[in-house]
Amino acid sequence: MSTPDWTFSVGFRFPVIFTRDAFAADNDTLAGLMAAETDGPVARAVVYVDAAVMRARPTLGRDIHAWFAAHTDRRISLAAAPVEVDGGEAAKSGLAIVERVARTCVDLGLCRHSYVIIIGGGAVLDAVGLAASLVHRGLRQIRLPSTTLGQCDAGLGVKNAVNLFGLKNLIGTFTPPWAVVDDSRFLDSQDDRTWRAGIAEAVKVAIIKDAGFFAELEVLAPRLRARDPDALERVVRRCAELHLEHITTSGDAFEHGSSRPLDFGHWSAHRLEALSHHRLQHGEAVAIGVALDALYAAAIGRLTPVEAHRVLDLLTSIGFRLWDPCFDLRDADGRRQIYAGLVQFREHLGGRLTLAMPDGLGRRQDVDVFDEMACEDCLTQLRKATKASSVPA
Ligand SMILES: NC(=O)c1ccc[n+]([C@@H]2O[C@H](COP(=O)([O-])OP(=O)(O)OC[C@H]3O[C@@H](n4cnc5c(N)ncnc54)[C@H](O)[C@@H]3O)[C@@H](O)[C@H]2O)c1
Ligand SMILES: [Zn+2]
Repeated sequence: MSTPDWTFSVGFRFPVIFTRDAFAADNDTLAGLMAAETDGPVARAVVYVDAAVMRARPTLGRDIHAWFAAHTDRRISLAAAPVEVDGGEAAKSGLAIVERVARTCVDLGLCRHSYVIIIGGGAVLDAVGLAASLVHRGLRQIRLPSTTLGQCDAGLGVKNAVNLFGLKNLIGTFTPPWAVVDDSRFLDSQDDRTWRAGIAEAVKVAIIKDAGFFAELEVLAPRLRARDPDALERVVRRCAELHLEHITTSGDAFEHGSSRPLDFGHWSAHRLEALSHHRLQHGEAVAIGVALDALYAAAIGRLTPVEAHRVLDLLTSIGFRLWDPCFDLRDADGRRQIYAGLVQFREHLGGRLTLAMPDGLGRRQDVDVFDEMACEDCLTQLRKATKASSVPA
């Protein structure tokens, strides 16, 4: 006897709003996102803040309290004082954060109609976002990314995760946010490395999706290197659009297939992050991974050598260093440890190894074979190109 398949679909929709100074008393952006129903209970919110953001802006706690006080007429309340979370990759180390957030939500009596507002870099967004998606099977999550990478990539996506057993993003969920607010004021206080790191994701997405944006990045590079906030804002917006377009139109937002188009350059980047014990930030590792895969794409005829060198020149002129000593780490058999990244990359998604590669600048095609000998040659080229560049170690 055959039984029918029962099918249903769930649509997702979330706003991504660009603003400046979301916690200025006269900024109504967040109020519009949290408005309580007039006949229901007042909407309650808890705010998690990356400790580095709090240090950089000591008045933020007070600003948040004052903002909620100025919006009581909108039937919104702050359930507790903002909670600080240590930022950086340490935030994603293991599952402790899940228990911590769950404890707070239970103590405060928060429910699935409550809001978890997360202000932080990609790591804090990933870690607190995972916790918020698990407590009561998911509270409403409003993300305010505070780094370049968070605003143009990590904060907009539908994924969250923490690291476990030395494996990047081993434990996570697909959970679309309730809303994302890109507040440019947060970008001002980043150190130079963090300010720059996220631009690697813009270079990445331009190479596989938008040749015009790649050319624009080449023009903007000197301004980006000089930390021009207007240039960064333009890059963040276009990069965010390209990521959102992909998530909403690719037909595989929850990555059921083997393809990971937005992870161009990431097989080695994730491995370099781990091998460097997170000395390299994610974006810094992505810049290196993108440079290596651009050379590899040229080796297999997917980019011309000139296009590959345009990629290296662009990354270098923004200020990225494209070689890392971790490339020289070898296992007991003499094989570079970086190559374990290929296996981990495949295992993360299952199925066959599928690597996103450019197909000319601005287009992408997946490849499912990887030639380590060809990659060795690319590593030699990358080391040489980095030695010749002026970016200090
Ligand atoms: N979920 C996704 O789709 C996705 C996508 C890309 C990257 N990621 C993840 O994002 C993480 C990287 O994020 P990131 O590049 O934002 O780095 P990060 O979160 O590690 O932050 C870098 C440093 O900047 C500090 N910081 C954050 N905001 C600041 C501010 N406004 N002023 C001063 N200091 C500030 C942090 O405390 C940290 O020390 C990685 O773990 C990566 O795997 C997730
Ligand atoms: Zn990335």
